[in-house]
Amino acid sequence: MTTVDLPLLPLGRGTDPLSERGVECPGDLPAASDPDLVARARAAKEALGDKVFVLGHHYQRDEVIQFADVTGDSFKLARDAAARPDAEYIVFCGVHFMAESADILTSPHQQVILPDLAAGCSMADMARIAQVEKAWEALAQAGVQDQVVPVTYMNSTAAIKAFCGRNGGVVCTSSNAEVALDWAFAQKGGVEAGTKVLFLPDQHLGRNTAVLKLGLGLDDCVVWNPHKPNGGLTAEELRDAKMILWKGHCSVHGRFSADVIDDLRAKVPDLNVLVHPECQHEVVLKSDFVGSTEYIIKTIEAAPAGSSWAIGTELNLVQRLAKAHPDKNIMFLDRNVCYCSTMNRIDLPHFVWAMESLVEGVVVNRIEVDPQTEQEALVALQRMLELPGKSHRD
Ligand code: 13P
Ligand code: SF4
Repeated sequence: MTTVDLPLLPLGRGTDPLSERGVECPGDLPAASDPDLVARARAAKEALGDKVFVLGHHYQRDEVIQFADVTGDSFKLARDAAARPDAEYIVFCGVHFMAESADILTSPHQQVILPDLAAGCSMADMARIAQVEKAWEALAQAGVQDQVVPVTYMNSTAAIKAFCGRNGGVVCTSSNAEVALDWAFAQKGGVEAGTKVLFLPDQHLGRNTAVLKLGLGLDDCVVWNPHKPNGGLTAEELRDAKMILWKGHCSVHGRFSADVIDDLRAKVPDLNVLVHPECQHEVVLKSDFVGSTEYIIKTIEAAPAGSSWAIGTELNLVQRLAKAHPDKNIMFLDRNVCYCSTMNRIDLPHFVWAMESLVEGVVVNRIEVDPQTEQEALVALQRMLELPGKSHRD
Protein backbone atom coordinates (compact mmCIF):
# COMPACT_ATOMS: atom_id res chain seq x y z
CA MET A 1 0.00 0.00 0.00
CA THR A 2 1.41 3.43 -0.86
CA THR A 3 0.86 6.31 1.50
CA VAL A 4 0.87 9.90 0.39
CA ASP A 5 1.72 12.69 2.74
CA LEU A 6 -0.99 15.26 2.40
CA PRO A 7 -0.93 18.72 3.88
CA LEU A 8 -3.51 19.35 6.60
CA LEU A 9 -6.88 19.56 4.94
CA PRO A 10 -8.49 22.92 5.70
CA LEU A 11 -11.37 22.85 8.15
CA GLY A 12 -12.03 19.18 7.77
CA ARG A 13 -13.06 19.27 4.14
CA GLY A 14 -12.10 16.26 2.03
CA THR A 15 -11.18 12.78 3.19
CA ASP A 16 -8.06 10.82 3.99
CA PRO A 17 -9.23 7.60 5.60
CA LEU A 18 -5.67 6.40 6.31
CA SER A 19 -4.93 9.29 8.59
CA GLU A 20 -6.09 11.01 11.75
CA ARG A 21 -6.91 14.18 9.91
CA GLY A 22 -9.15 15.63 7.29
CA VAL A 23 -12.14 13.34 7.52
CA GLU A 24 -15.25 15.14 6.48
CA CYS A 25 -17.39 16.72 9.18
CA PRO A 26 -20.74 17.25 7.45
CA GLY A 27 -22.55 18.79 10.41
CA ASP A 28 -25.15 21.52 10.08
CA LEU A 29 -23.38 23.68 12.63
CA PRO A 30 -24.82 26.65 14.48
CA ALA A 31 -23.15 29.94 13.59
CA ALA A 32 -20.13 30.82 15.73
CA SER A 33 -21.71 34.27 16.20
CA ASP A 34 -24.87 32.85 17.80
CA PRO A 35 -24.98 34.61 21.21
CA ASP A 36 -26.98 31.70 22.70
CA LEU A 37 -24.33 29.01 22.17
CA VAL A 38 -23.31 28.80 25.84
CA ALA A 39 -26.95 28.61 26.97
CA ARG A 40 -27.68 25.99 24.29
CA ALA A 41 -24.71 23.84 25.38
CA ARG A 42 -25.80 24.12 29.01
CA ALA A 43 -29.41 23.19 28.16
CA ALA A 44 -28.33 20.18 26.07
CA LYS A 45 -26.07 18.95 28.86
CA GLU A 46 -28.83 19.30 31.42
CA ALA A 47 -31.32 17.50 29.19
CA LEU A 48 -28.91 14.59 28.71
CA GLY A 49 -28.08 14.37 32.44
CA ASP A 50 -26.21 11.17 33.43
CA LYS A 51 -26.57 9.77 29.91
CA VAL A 52 -23.61 11.86 28.80
CA PHE A 53 -20.08 12.12 30.16
CA VAL A 54 -17.91 14.90 28.73
CA LEU A 55 -14.12 14.49 28.77
CA GLY A 56 -11.84 17.47 28.05
CA HIS A 57 -8.11 17.44 27.33
CA HIS A 58 -6.13 20.32 28.86
CA TYR A 59 -5.39 21.75 25.39
CA GLN A 60 -9.05 22.41 24.64
CA ARG A 61 -10.39 25.94 24.29
CA ASP A 62 -11.90 27.60 27.40
CA GLU A 63 -15.27 27.84 25.63
CA VAL A 64 -15.39 24.02 25.47
CA ILE A 65 -13.50 22.96 28.60
CA GLN A 66 -16.11 24.71 30.78
CA PHE A 67 -18.53 21.89 29.86
CA ALA A 68 -16.17 19.01 30.68
CA ASP A 69 -17.16 16.68 33.54
CA VAL A 70 -13.48 15.80 33.89
CA THR A 71 -10.34 17.36 32.47
CA GLY A 72 -6.98 15.67 32.20
CA ASP A 73 -3.92 14.64 30.25
CA SER A 74 -4.05 11.66 27.90
CA PHE A 75 -3.37 9.14 30.67
CA LYS A 76 -5.97 10.49 33.11
CA LEU A 77 -8.61 10.74 30.38
CA ALA A 78 -7.95 7.15 29.26
CA ARG A 79 -8.58 5.99 32.83
CA ASP A 80 -11.54 8.31 33.35
CA ALA A 81 -13.23 7.19 30.12
CA ALA A 82 -13.59 3.70 31.61
CA ALA A 83 -14.78 5.02 34.97
CA ARG A 84 -18.39 5.83 33.98
CA PRO A 85 -19.86 2.59 32.56
CA ASP A 86 -23.39 3.95 33.12
CA ALA A 87 -22.98 6.84 30.66
CA GLU A 88 -24.47 5.99 27.27
CA TYR A 89 -22.53 8.71 25.46
CA ILE A 90 -18.92 9.78 25.98
CA VAL A 91 -18.36 13.14 24.29
CA PHE A 92 -14.61 13.47 23.84
CA CYS A 93 -13.27 17.02 23.60
CA GLY A 94 -9.78 16.17 22.44
CA VAL A 95 -8.36 14.57 19.31
CA HIS A 96 -9.11 11.46 17.28
CA PHE A 97 -6.55 9.06 18.84
CA MET A 98 -7.90 9.89 22.32
CA ALA A 99 -11.48 9.18 21.25
CA GLU A 100 -10.33 5.87 19.71
CA SER A 101 -8.67 4.90 23.00
CA ALA A 102 -11.85 5.84 24.88
CA ASP A 103 -13.88 3.61 22.55
CA ILE A 104 -11.47 0.72 23.17
CA LEU A 105 -11.59 1.17 26.95
CA THR A 106 -15.36 1.63 27.33
CA SER A 107 -18.13 -0.99 27.16
CA PRO A 108 -19.71 -1.92 23.82
CA HIS A 109 -23.01 -0.22 24.75
CA GLN A 110 -21.24 3.14 25.22
CA GLN A 111 -20.83 5.40 22.20
CA VAL A 112 -17.87 7.76 21.89
CA ILE A 113 -18.40 11.02 20.03
CA LEU A 114 -15.74 13.41 18.69
CA PRO A 115 -17.50 16.75 18.02
CA ASP A 116 -15.33 17.50 14.96
CA LEU A 117 -13.97 14.54 12.99
CA ALA A 118 -11.23 16.76 11.60
CA ALA A 119 -9.61 16.93 15.04
CA GLY A 120 -6.73 14.58 14.26
CA CYS A 121 -3.10 14.78 15.34
CA SER A 122 -0.23 15.53 12.98
CA MET A 123 2.16 13.47 15.15
CA ALA A 124 -0.10 10.41 15.03
CA ASP A 125 -0.18 10.80 11.24
CA MET A 126 3.60 10.46 11.08
CA ALA A 127 3.37 6.71 11.74
CA ARG A 128 1.04 4.87 9.37
CA ILE A 129 0.44 1.19 10.03
CA ALA A 130 1.78 0.16 6.59
CA GLN A 131 5.04 2.02 7.31
CA VAL A 132 5.34 0.40 10.74
CA GLU A 133 4.72 -3.12 9.35
CA LYS A 134 7.40 -2.43 6.74
CA ALA A 135 9.86 -1.31 9.44
CA TRP A 136 9.06 -4.45 11.49
CA GLU A 137 9.86 -6.60 8.46
CA ALA A 138 13.15 -4.72 7.94
CA LEU A 139 14.06 -5.38 11.59
CA ALA A 140 13.53 -9.08 10.90
CA GLN A 141 15.77 -8.86 7.82
CA ALA A 142 18.46 -7.19 9.95
CA GLY A 143 18.22 -10.12 12.40
CA VAL A 144 17.09 -8.02 15.39
CA GLN A 145 13.28 -8.26 15.40
CA ASP A 146 13.29 -10.99 18.11
CA GLN A 147 14.98 -8.57 20.51
CA VAL A 148 12.67 -5.61 19.84
CA VAL A 149 9.74 -4.56 22.03
CA PRO A 150 7.47 -1.97 20.37
CA VAL A 151 6.28 0.89 22.60
CA THR A 152 3.85 3.41 21.21
CA TYR A 153 2.97 6.78 22.64
CA MET A 154 -0.75 7.19 23.21
CA ASN A 155 -0.62 9.75 20.36
CA SER A 156 -0.94 7.09 17.66
CA THR A 157 -3.74 5.42 15.74
CA ALA A 158 -5.58 2.40 17.13
CA ALA A 159 -3.92 0.33 14.39
CA ILE A 160 -0.46 1.13 15.79
CA LYS A 161 -1.62 0.31 19.34
CA ALA A 162 -2.95 -3.00 17.98
CA PHE A 163 0.45 -3.63 16.35
CA CYS A 164 2.08 -3.20 19.78
CA GLY A 165 -0.54 -5.45 21.40
CA ARG A 166 0.08 -8.35 19.02
CA ASN A 167 3.87 -7.96 19.10
CA GLY A 168 4.42 -8.02 22.88
CA GLY A 169 4.48 -4.24 23.27
CA VAL A 170 2.78 -1.55 25.29
CA VAL A 171 1.23 1.92 25.06
CA CYS A 172 2.63 4.79 27.12
CA THR A 173 1.75 8.41 27.75
CA SER A 174 3.95 11.32 28.76
CA SER A 175 2.98 10.54 32.40
CA ASN A 176 4.31 6.99 32.39
CA ALA A 177 6.90 6.76 29.59
CA GLU A 178 9.66 5.96 32.10
CA VAL A 179 7.88 2.99 33.68
CA ALA A 180 6.75 1.80 30.26
CA LEU A 181 10.35 1.81 29.00
CA ASP A 182 11.51 0.09 32.19
CA TRP A 183 8.91 -2.59 31.55
CA ALA A 184 9.85 -2.92 27.87
CA PHE A 185 13.59 -3.28 28.56
CA ALA A 186 12.81 -6.04 31.08
CA GLN A 187 11.06 -8.14 28.37
CA LYS A 188 12.74 -10.74 26.14
CA GLY A 189 15.48 -11.53 28.61
CA GLY A 190 16.25 -7.93 29.60
CA VAL A 191 19.00 -5.50 28.62
CA GLU A 192 21.74 -8.13 29.17
CA ALA A 193 20.12 -10.23 26.46
CA GLY A 194 20.16 -7.23 24.10
CA THR A 195 16.54 -6.12 24.38
CA LYS A 196 15.77 -3.05 22.26
CA VAL A 197 12.78 -0.74 22.04
CA LEU A 198 11.09 0.53 18.89
CA PHE A 199 9.52 3.78 20.11
CA LEU A 200 6.61 5.21 18.08
CA PRO A 201 5.84 7.87 16.89
CA ASP A 202 7.45 10.69 18.94
CA GLN A 203 11.24 10.64 18.72
CA HIS A 204 11.52 13.42 21.32
CA LEU A 205 9.53 11.73 24.09
CA GLY A 206 11.45 8.51 23.37
CA ARG A 207 14.87 10.18 23.42
CA ASN A 208 14.16 12.40 26.43
CA THR A 209 12.90 9.46 28.47
CA ALA A 210 15.66 7.04 27.45
CA VAL A 211 18.49 9.51 28.05
CA LEU A 212 17.25 11.65 30.94
CA LYS A 213 15.27 9.04 32.90
CA LEU A 214 16.82 5.67 32.04
CA GLY A 215 20.40 6.94 31.70
CA LEU A 216 21.02 5.65 28.17
CA GLY A 217 23.46 7.57 25.97
CA LEU A 218 22.46 9.60 22.94
CA ASP A 219 24.53 7.15 20.90
CA ASP A 220 22.32 4.29 22.11
CA CYS A 221 19.50 5.92 20.10
CA VAL A 222 19.01 5.76 16.32
CA VAL A 223 16.24 7.41 14.31
CA TRP A 224 14.15 5.33 11.92
CA ASN A 225 13.09 7.49 8.96
CA PRO A 226 10.05 5.82 7.34
CA HIS A 227 10.68 7.74 4.12
CA LYS A 228 14.10 6.15 3.55
CA PRO A 229 14.90 2.55 2.54
CA ASN A 230 15.55 0.51 5.70
CA GLY A 231 14.74 3.60 7.74
CA GLY A 232 18.06 5.12 6.61
CA LEU A 233 19.94 2.71 8.94
CA THR A 234 22.40 -0.11 8.37
CA ALA A 235 21.94 -3.55 9.93
CA GLU A 236 24.98 -2.82 12.10
CA GLU A 237 23.46 0.44 13.41
CA LEU A 238 20.28 -1.45 14.26
CA ARG A 239 22.21 -4.20 16.04
CA ASP A 240 24.15 -1.64 18.12
CA ALA A 241 21.14 0.51 19.07
CA LYS A 242 19.09 0.18 22.25
CA MET A 243 16.38 2.68 21.26
CA ILE A 244 15.04 2.81 17.72
CA LEU A 245 13.16 6.12 17.59
CA TRP A 246 10.51 6.66 14.95
CA LYS A 247 11.04 9.94 13.10
CA GLY A 248 7.90 11.69 14.31
CA HIS A 249 7.34 14.81 16.37
CA CYS A 250 4.65 17.17 17.65
CA SER A 251 4.25 20.22 15.45
CA VAL A 252 3.37 22.32 18.50
CA HIS A 253 6.07 21.25 20.99
CA GLY A 254 8.70 20.88 18.27
CA ARG A 255 8.64 24.68 17.86
CA PHE A 256 10.09 25.59 21.24
CA SER A 257 13.77 26.43 20.99
CA ALA A 258 16.71 26.58 23.36
CA ASP A 259 17.68 30.14 22.33
CA VAL A 260 14.35 31.51 23.61
CA ILE A 261 15.18 29.95 26.99
CA ASP A 262 18.55 31.78 26.97
CA ASP A 263 16.84 35.09 26.04
CA LEU A 264 14.23 34.76 28.77
CA ARG A 265 16.73 33.75 31.42
CA ALA A 266 18.77 36.86 30.58
CA LYS A 267 15.68 39.06 31.05
CA VAL A 268 13.78 37.42 33.92
CA PRO A 269 15.59 36.81 37.24
CA ASP A 270 15.07 33.39 38.90
CA LEU A 271 13.09 32.11 35.96
CA ASN A 272 11.81 28.51 36.13
CA VAL A 273 11.45 26.79 32.77
CA LEU A 274 8.80 24.07 32.66
CA VAL A 275 8.29 22.03 29.48
CA HIS A 276 6.50 19.01 28.08
CA PRO A 277 8.68 15.98 27.12
CA GLU A 278 7.48 16.26 23.49
CA CYS A 279 9.93 19.21 23.22
CA GLN A 280 13.29 18.73 21.49
CA HIS A 281 16.12 17.28 23.59
CA GLU A 282 18.12 20.58 23.64
CA VAL A 283 15.07 22.39 25.01
CA VAL A 284 14.45 19.80 27.72
CA LEU A 285 18.16 19.88 28.67
CA LYS A 286 17.95 23.64 29.26
CA SER A 287 14.73 23.39 31.29
CA ASP A 288 14.29 23.04 35.03
CA PHE A 289 11.21 20.83 35.05
CA VAL A 290 9.75 18.43 32.50
CA GLY A 291 6.47 16.52 32.53
CA SER A 292 3.02 15.84 31.13
CA THR A 293 0.27 18.44 31.07
CA GLU A 294 -1.08 17.13 34.39
CA TYR A 295 2.43 17.49 35.90
CA ILE A 296 2.71 21.03 34.49
CA ILE A 297 -0.57 22.03 36.15
CA LYS A 298 0.39 20.50 39.52
CA THR A 299 3.82 22.17 39.42
CA ILE A 300 2.29 25.61 38.88
CA GLU A 301 -0.34 25.00 41.57
CA ALA A 302 2.43 24.17 44.07
CA ALA A 303 4.67 27.10 43.06
CA PRO A 304 5.10 29.99 45.52
CA ALA A 305 3.43 33.37 44.87
CA GLY A 306 5.75 35.75 43.05
CA SER A 307 7.70 32.99 41.27
CA SER A 308 8.37 33.27 37.51
CA TRP A 309 7.62 30.51 35.00
CA ALA A 310 8.17 30.10 31.25
CA ILE A 311 6.03 27.19 30.08
CA GLY A 312 6.62 25.15 26.93
CA THR A 313 3.33 23.52 26.07
CA GLU A 314 0.14 24.31 24.14
CA LEU A 315 -1.07 27.89 24.45
CA ASN A 316 -4.67 27.27 25.62
CA LEU A 317 -3.28 25.58 28.73
CA VAL A 318 -0.60 28.22 29.37
CA GLN A 319 -3.18 31.02 29.08
CA ARG A 320 -5.54 29.19 31.44
CA LEU A 321 -2.74 28.72 33.99
CA ALA A 322 -1.78 32.40 33.77
CA LYS A 323 -5.41 33.40 34.37
CA ALA A 324 -5.84 30.98 37.28
CA HIS A 325 -2.60 32.10 39.01
CA PRO A 326 -2.42 35.91 38.81
CA ASP A 327 -0.04 35.89 41.81
CA LYS A 328 2.62 34.10 39.68
CA ASN A 329 4.50 35.47 36.70
CA ILE A 330 3.60 33.00 33.94
CA MET A 331 4.82 33.40 30.35
CA PHE A 332 4.72 31.37 27.15
CA LEU A 333 7.99 29.85 25.96
CA ASP A 334 7.71 30.91 22.32
CA ARG A 335 7.89 34.17 20.43
CA ASN A 336 4.85 33.27 18.35
CA VAL A 337 1.33 32.02 18.91
CA CYS A 338 1.38 28.25 19.26
CA TYR A 339 -2.05 26.62 19.53
CA CYS A 340 -2.60 23.03 18.48
CA SER A 341 -4.73 23.63 15.39
CA THR A 342 -6.44 20.26 15.55
CA MET A 343 -7.25 20.45 19.28
CA ASN A 344 -8.71 23.88 18.52
CA ARG A 345 -11.08 22.40 15.96
CA ILE A 346 -13.41 21.38 18.76
CA ASP A 347 -15.17 24.69 19.25
CA LEU A 348 -18.50 25.68 20.72
CA PRO A 349 -20.50 25.31 17.47
CA HIS A 350 -19.27 21.70 17.04
CA PHE A 351 -19.89 20.94 20.72
CA VAL A 352 -23.43 22.37 20.62
CA TRP A 353 -24.17 20.49 17.39
CA ALA A 354 -22.98 17.16 18.81
CA MET A 355 -24.83 17.62 22.12
CA GLU A 356 -28.12 18.86 20.61
CA SER A 357 -28.05 15.96 18.15
CA LEU A 358 -27.79 13.56 21.11
CA VAL A 359 -30.76 15.26 22.77
CA GLU A 360 -32.72 14.49 19.58
CA GLY A 361 -31.52 10.87 19.76
CA VAL A 362 -29.10 11.24 16.83
CA VAL A 363 -25.51 10.11 17.37
CA VAL A 364 -23.15 12.12 15.19
CA ASN A 365 -19.40 11.61 14.64
CA ARG A 366 -19.23 8.29 16.46
CA ILE A 367 -15.69 6.92 16.78
CA GLU A 368 -15.78 3.16 16.49
CA VAL A 369 -12.69 0.99 16.30
CA ASP A 370 -13.18 -2.32 14.45
CA PRO A 371 -13.37 -5.39 16.76
CA GLN A 372 -10.06 -7.02 15.73
CA THR A 373 -8.07 -3.78 16.13
CA GLU A 374 -9.89 -3.06 19.37
CA GLN A 375 -9.03 -6.46 20.86
CA GLU A 376 -5.32 -6.16 20.03
CA ALA A 377 -5.04 -2.49 21.01
CA LEU A 378 -6.74 -3.27 24.32
CA VAL A 379 -3.93 -5.72 25.16
CA ALA A 380 -1.34 -2.91 24.82
CA LEU A 381 -3.52 -0.36 26.64
CA GLN A 382 -4.20 -2.76 29.50
CA ARG A 383 -0.49 -3.47 29.85
CA MET A 384 -0.07 0.28 30.26
CA LEU A 385 -2.85 0.61 32.84
CA GLU A 386 -1.29 -2.24 34.85
CA LEU A 387 2.19 -0.64 34.97
CA PRO A 388 3.38 0.23 38.48
CA GLY A 389 2.94 3.85 39.55
CA LYS A 390 6.68 4.44 39.88
CA SER A 391 9.78 3.38 38.04
CA HIS A 392 11.20 -0.06 38.85
CA ARG A 393 14.46 1.72 39.71
CA ASP A 394 12.92 3.88 42.50
P1 13P B 1 -0.34 14.63 27.55
O1 13P B 1 -1.81 14.79 27.56
O2 13P B 1 0.06 13.21 27.79
O3 13P B 1 0.39 15.60 28.41
O4 13P B 1 0.14 14.89 26.03
C1 13P B 1 0.07 16.13 25.45
C2 13P B 1 -0.38 16.05 24.06
O5 13P B 1 0.28 16.47 23.16
C3 13P B 1 -1.65 15.47 23.79
O6 13P B 1 -1.90 15.53 22.45
FE1 SF4 C 1 -0.85 16.07 18.34
FE2 SF4 C 1 0.93 17.84 19.30
FE3 SF4 C 1 -1.61 18.56 18.94
FE4 SF4 C 1 -0.95 16.86 20.91
S1 SF4 C 1 -0.36 18.99 20.73
S2 SF4 C 1 -2.68 16.67 19.46
S3 SF4 C 1 0.72 15.72 19.90
S4 SF4 C 1 -0.15 17.95 17.31
